[in-house]
Amino acid sequence: MRLPRRALPPPRPHPPLLHLLVLLSFAVPETAAAPPRTSSIVGMAWPTKCTWLPLPTSGMSHSYTLFSKYHKIWKETKEAVSANDVSRQETISGVIALKGSMKYFDADFFNDSKLREMEDGAIEFNVPAFRDNRKLVALENGGLHNPSALVFKSSWNGESKISKRKSLDYPITSSVHRPSKDEDIAFMSIMELGELIRTKQVTSRELTDVFLRRLKRYSPVIKSVITVTDDLAYKQAKEADDLLEQGKYLGLLHGIPYGLKDIIAVPEYKTTWGSKTFENQVLDIEAYVYKRFVCFRLYDSCVSDVVRSIVVTSSHLCMPSFRLKSTGAVLVAKLVTGSLAYDDIWFGGRTRNPWNIEEFSTGSSAGPAASTSAGMVPFAIGSETAGSITYPAARCGVTALRPTFGTVARTGVMSISESLDKLGPFCRSAIDCAVVLDEIRGKDAGDPSSREVDIEDPFHVDITQLTVGYLDSAEMEVVNVLSAKGVKLVPFKLNYTVESVQSILNITMDVDMLAHFDNWQREGLDNVYEAQDQWPVELRRARLIPAVEYLQAQRARGKLIREVKESFTVDAFIGNATDWELVCLGNLVGMPVAVVPTGFKSIEDPPKSGTRRRTTITTGIYAPPDHDHIALALAMAYQSVTDHHKQRPPIDDLGSDNDV
Ligand SMILES: *[C@@H]1O[C@H](CO)[C@@H](O)[C@H](O)[C@H]1NC(C)=O
Ligand SMILES: *[C@@H]1O[C@H](CO)[C@@H](O)[C@H](O)[C@H]1NC(C)=O
Ligand SMILES: *[C@@H]1O[C@H](CO)[C@@H](O)[C@H](O)[C@H]1NC(C)=O
Ligand SMILES: *[C@@H]1O[C@H](CO)[C@@H](O)[C@H](O)[C@H]1NC(C)=O
Repeated sequence: MRLPRRALPPPRPHPPLLHLLVLLSFAVPETAAAPPRTSSIVGMAWPTKCTWLPLPTSGMSHSYTLFSKYHKIWKETKEAVSANDVSRQETISGVIALKGSMKYFDADFFNDSKLREMEDGAIEFNVPAFRDNRKLVALENGGLHNPSALVFKSSWNGESKISKRKSLDYPITSSVHRPSKDEDIAFMSIMELGELIRTKQVTSRELTDVFLRRLKRYSPVIKSVITVTDDLAYKQAKEADDLLEQGKYLGLLHGIPYGLKDIIAVPEYKTTWGSKTFENQVLDIEAYVYKRFVCFRLYDSCVSDVVRSIVVTSSHLCMPSFRLKSTGAVLVAKLVTGSLAYDDIWFGGRTRNPWNIEEFSTGSSAGPAASTSAGMVPFAIGSETAGSITYPAARCGVTALRPTFGTVARTGVMSISESLDKLGPFCRSAIDCAVVLDEIRGKDAGDPSSREVDIEDPFHVDITQLTVGYLDSAEMEVVNVLSAKGVKLVPFKLNYTVESVQSILNITMDVDMLAHFDNWQREGLDNVYEAQDQWPVELRRARLIPAVEYLQAQRARGKLIREVKESFTVDAFIGNATDWELVCLGNLVGMPVAVVPTGFKSIEDPPKSGTRRRTTITTGIYAPPDHDHIALALAMAYQSVTDHHKQRPPIDDLGSDNDV
């Protein structure tokens, strides 16, 4: 049933285009004028490409010609709709504009009477609804509020049953001794640092000092840090040290410093999203992922009988709705995100690659990747919509995990796309990634796409039972090492017929992003964006994607997911971590990938005097959704017998001719 039509809206003001038409038809001014910027005829931008040329004055002295296809459209339409009917002049102009615009929607098949009807309907019904909805949900930028009711489920098994959550059975790191040099401490893994803390060879305060010093020392060159959170860090380090003094040890992350990509909100500090527009923004929000690290102070009374770690799951222990596991990690810095989570360019410059200081880190998790690589933090949390974990991790040579979509709730995190964005760890090893993932994963009411993903323990996977495929683009060294460890390796190719993977990604990401930064674009703030050829261009283009095409893209994505599921006949596969088609595919499907450094090669055109700068080589280990533990187990197996992930970038000694 349809509701009765609304009363007609009041007459529209005379559109400027009408003047233009009248001028063209009857009176022509003496001097050539640029066409007026008639920017809002029925909500469509008048094409700016029309070329106006003054003709030489011969015979008809005051005459100009509009060399444009719009002239043709105008003529045809004018003939079709009687010119004598003055009351319809306005309609003519609207129909002309609409007709000219329909080709941007790949829908230029409507005849004039239909276009007229569409114009009326758009004005009467669509525009008021658009405005109402914008007022409701789109006045604030960044997607922090009002998540969409359409929720993407990445699971291939429907709603999986949740087994009772247990701590990971990670190996005990024994006989770790505190090195004398700060640098050696800075490049230790979480496992090693955790053991130093637990055995009281180092305090959290001392670790915090080490990493704050390194953050301040290297950030002027690497440009990977937006805010150093000294005060908060010392406060949290003191809490961690005090708890340990009282015999309370919260687990491996107790007292360990870390950094957050600056799209993640932490109260009282700036959350800049890397953008000039939001450079001074302070959000009074504790992002879910941040809460996962600090929550212990909220329920001190719960942690009395802690041995290795605690899982507070029952209400009698704590506040009823509080089911968070405490970790006691120490936030030392908000790290660079490329502006609005795109690439490595941000309002303070451009983040560099510690392995080759003359090139950039790529992005958008530029800060988490570069800072972890340079030993400025032991680990960091970044995010990926399409490539923002895999690209900078590969470039900067760190181990990272892009988890299954939905694994880590994104409450309090700037949103690009609700069906693509994921949070994930950047670390020194796959073991550390497993430990951090286990601490941050979880569902939150603020993020309807988040799930309690039932990831099994990666430390319990028997890799000799796995069949792993390798693509043409796989690093054979990884294939050989895993094969030697007893994994069954087979050549592999994903078989799918959807050819538009990359454009499905573009349509989804761009439309979603524009919905979250609608007002930003309307206010012209995109004019001061740091990289004019990136978001501004893409988001203007996104205005021209109709809802029906967005949904067709989601249907095509559904087909892709079914085909990938069908052809994923192995337990995991190894392939290029930065191949764009695979990045788009992996993100559209929501599948996890572990990014693993597998070696180094010399840079192109090295200086004659030699250099320590290197190009890192990386591979990706992909697993089906909810099988992050498989990717992690394979990465751990590879790293257990290789040491590429332990190499340190040449940030102190670049050699001559290697200056920034
Ligand atoms: C447009 O098409 C409809 C349906 O085919 C027809 O009834 C109408 O007369 C057409 N209008 C014009 C202006 O051609
Ligand atoms: C790939 O998929 C197509 C279409 O679904 C099918 O005909 C073909 O047999 C598949 N090839 C392999 C190697 O699975
Ligand atoms: C996706 O958008 C990017 C950025 O504008 C562009 O370079 C790329 O060609 C687009 N790809 C497709 C398949 O549309
Ligand atoms: C992986 O993909 C990237 C980006 O397309 C390319 O530059 C690189 O050469 C590829 N590596 C391999 C081993 O195919």
